[in-house]
Amino acid sequence: MSTVLAIETSCDETAVSIVSQENGSLRVQSNAISSQVHLHAPYGGVVPNLAAREHNKNMNLVLQEALNIARITPDEIDLIAVTHAPGLIPALLVGTTTAKTLSWFWNKPLLGIHHIEGHIYANFISSLDTDNDKTFLKFPLLALVVSGGHTQLVYMKKHFHYEIIGETQDDAVGEAFDKVARILGLPYPGGPEIAKKAHLYREKRKASGKEMLSGEILLPRPMIGSKNFHFSFSGLKTAVLYATQTYRKKYTLEEKDPLPESFIEMMSWQFEEASIDVLTTKTLRALDQYQPKTVVLAGGVSANIHLQKTLRQKIAEISPQTDFFLPPLGLSLDNAAMIGACALLRWEKMSPQEKTQARSIWKSLETYANLSLTEISL
Ligand code: KG4
Ligand code: ZN
Repeated sequence: MSTVLAIETSCDETAVSIVSQENGSLRVQSNAISSQVHLHAPYGGVVPNLAAREHNKNMNLVLQEALNIARITPDEIDLIAVTHAPGLIPALLVGTTTAKTLSWFWNKPLLGIHHIEGHIYANFISSLDTDNDKTFLKFPLLALVVSGGHTQLVYMKKHFHYEIIGETQDDAVGEAFDKVARILGLPYPGGPEIAKKAHLYREKRKASGKEMLSGEILLPRPMIGSKNFHFSFSGLKTAVLYATQTYRKKYTLEEKDPLPESFIEMMSWQFEEASIDVLTTKTLRALDQYQPKTVVLAGGVSANIHLQKTLRQKIAEISPQTDFFLPPLGLSLDNAAMIGACALLRWEKMSPQEKTQARSIWKSLETYANLSLTEISL
């Protein structure tokens, strides 16, 4: 059995987790998270220096909690792992400094993990409540990465080999959810809020039995017809802005006036439909061209139930032989368990010499605001 202590501080969650690999299967022993969303909510986004200060305040408490819940002592830890890129530099530095100190003080090997590969490898973690071993996921694998900072289609021939076959040309889809929520007067983070309103509208529509309800606006599906696997969400967000401004003018509502619930629900539904339409269409097209054995969803937007359902259903219809996986419940959003899982699988594949070198990584590990998955491919 190997056990890792993993740390994640790339954005607004201070997270520490203990993950073990036992008979091949990845098990989360503890997953401690201190979220700062309420601190950043008034600003409508994450403020880097505030995030760093908060990580610094909470890190030791979260670390202690992760160790206590897992009932583990430093002697039982084989490896330290930390997110070192991409992310907000002041925030990343808190996590990497903690990890380097522990590695040096406890004399443990250290691995720096890419945040997005962590999100992808969350799919290899066995669910907390079942016995299934998910490390069997078959390659080649196609990952639809959907987070606040990234929207990518990543093709993996084998473990740790990343080919970005398509990505957003402007905003990430999670960022667009957040911005649309702001236009509609919904709180940050916007993704779960938009999803809730969209769900209400979908139910009302179903109950009405009608094809279309009055006042419905059809939003564009940017780049849906383009032959490549790229995305664009900025235009979709702007279309919501223009439609909202037109609505305000029509009903003589000022900027400060709240929008009626019926408009917010309809717009949230239409935005969710449009963005999921583009995401699934491109993923299915990539599935057709690359013929992967497995498709996985990764990143915070993978918590979106409608996206999960739509993609699962379409893949089952079009390519029933392809497996489809999601991260276990609670591991879609930022967490340290995904970083630990990725580190354990990387560790397994390292040579004895690389394992020895990992004991001195604490001297040289650097943080990067931007680092492409392709730069860390094996
Ligand atoms: O992966 P993540 O936790 O952080 C980044 O790495 O960016 O993703 C956060 C993003 C936010 O934009 C948030 O609004 C979005 O994920 N999100 C959702 C849902 N839950 C979180 N978007 C749509 N539907 C959701 N249910
Ligand atoms: Zn993330």
